[in-house]
Amino acid sequence: MPLWDGRFSEERKNSLIDFSESISFDHRLYRQDIEGSRAHVKMLALSEIISQDTADAICGELESIQRRIDAGDFKFSHELEDIHMHIESALIKALGDEGARVHTARSRNDQVALDVRLYLRNCSTCLSAGMRSIQTALVEKAETESETIMPGFTHLQHAQPVLFAHHLLAYVEMLERDLGRLSDCIARISECPLGSGAIAGTTLPINRHLSAELLNFTAGPSNNSMDSVSDRDFVCEFISCLAIFAMHMSRLSEDIILWSSQEFSFIELGDAYCTGSSLMPQKKNPDLAELTRGKTGRIYGSLISVLTTCKGLPMSYNRDLQEDKEALFDAIDTVRKICSVYPGMISSIKVNSERMLRAASDPFLMATDMAELLVRKGVPFREAHSRVGKLVRHCRENSVSPEKVGLDAMKAIIPEADEDCLSLFCPKKSIAARELIGGTGFKEVSKQIRRWKNILLKKKQANMLSDAKCKRMSAPAN
Ligand code: ARG
Repeated sequence: MPLWDGRFSEERKNSLIDFSESISFDHRLYRQDIEGSRAHVKMLALSEIISQDTADAICGELESIQRRIDAGDFKFSHELEDIHMHIESALIKALGDEGARVHTARSRNDQVALDVRLYLRNCSTCLSAGMRSIQTALVEKAETESETIMPGFTHLQHAQPVLFAHHLLAYVEMLERDLGRLSDCIARISECPLGSGAIAGTTLPINRHLSAELLNFTAGPSNNSMDSVSDRDFVCEFISCLAIFAMHMSRLSEDIILWSSQEFSFIELGDAYCTGSSLMPQKKNPDLAELTRGKTGRIYGSLISVLTTCKGLPMSYNRDLQEDKEALFDAIDTVRKICSVYPGMISSIKVNSERMLRAASDPFLMATDMAELLVRKGVPFREAHSRVGKLVRHCRENSVSPEKVGLDAMKAIIPEADEDCLSLFCPKKSIAARELIGGTGFKEVSKQIRRWKNILLKKKQANMLSDAKCKRMSAPAN
């Protein structure tokens, strides 16, 4: 029997029970639910709403419930709807009237808003550690390939020579902003909703500051009980952080897929990170990268799902909000899976640096270098651009490489041309000439690699701490 059945006379149909249950997915909030209840009863006792003995008895039983759920030794049933009612029922079953005091001055509405916040707080540590390990793999690969030159692309057309390491570090920067977004989101989650009750707080003399403090909500209690029970903007925000991260990962995946194609042949992935074809014996497919690209769509789906669930809901709590969880959990699980396989795949990359260099040695990639050389000689940039453009056309029309045009023919198109213009068709020189901050110069990229190694080293200890937490995040055994 559900705990709210007092006002009902008819029995609920099984189909309805199955339709409204959330225990099949919100069971994973059990640790947060217990943590919240523990703080809540401590506060109730200190506020003299329940006795200290009752609070102690409840806390003791909560511990035993947690152990049972940890061990897969706790029976979940659709009848009891959600994790909140399961734990409360277990308390009542074990402690009778004492257990029945746990829900004093509390509603499942503020309880669920609390549990999800606590869950996301934990998750963010774990997900950040995962993102950091992808950054680490990228930086390590950048370091071992710090001299490797490749063609940089815009519009997927050859643009200018760049260092492969520079390309990899671009993703490290993107992931850093993803990490920043996640931590900003968590900072906004730092208000404690507990005490908001169903919608309008409570008539009982609770101490909301104390609840917030016990649960380490640095911004204290939330300021509007209706807002606290009705909004899931933090869920939308959290998933949108994951969606942006996934968008970045799908782009890296696309690069990896392209680079490992026969047409590019820039890299080869480790066998362990590829799959074969059931039909074509020669195939070695970059499925892991493809799946990451594909799963990005699924994470966007979660975001759209929750945004749509929340759209147009009247104030305040509506049962629709229960629908936020599956999408949220799926997005988290998907990102967690990506983070667990991706670093290994990056480390397994074998770079074909000769092939990359050959592609980057296309002299037309140095056309901008020539325009900038003319600028140094006093030619206005737009004029220099147009003259080099004419040289490119001449070369294309006459099927001749710009290095082979010869100084006289070049001068006919670019009067300012001299020997310097003939010696710039070298990707290595082109890169060495770009030592500006954020540029692809050898020294600059090495400096960036050092900077990232330092940052990641400092974060490493925090990551280690979070490892243990991550293991506890997943769903209970049954
Ligand atoms: N399982 C519910 C949810 O996830 C908990 C809150 C239920 N509140 C209610 N008034 N029925 O939103």
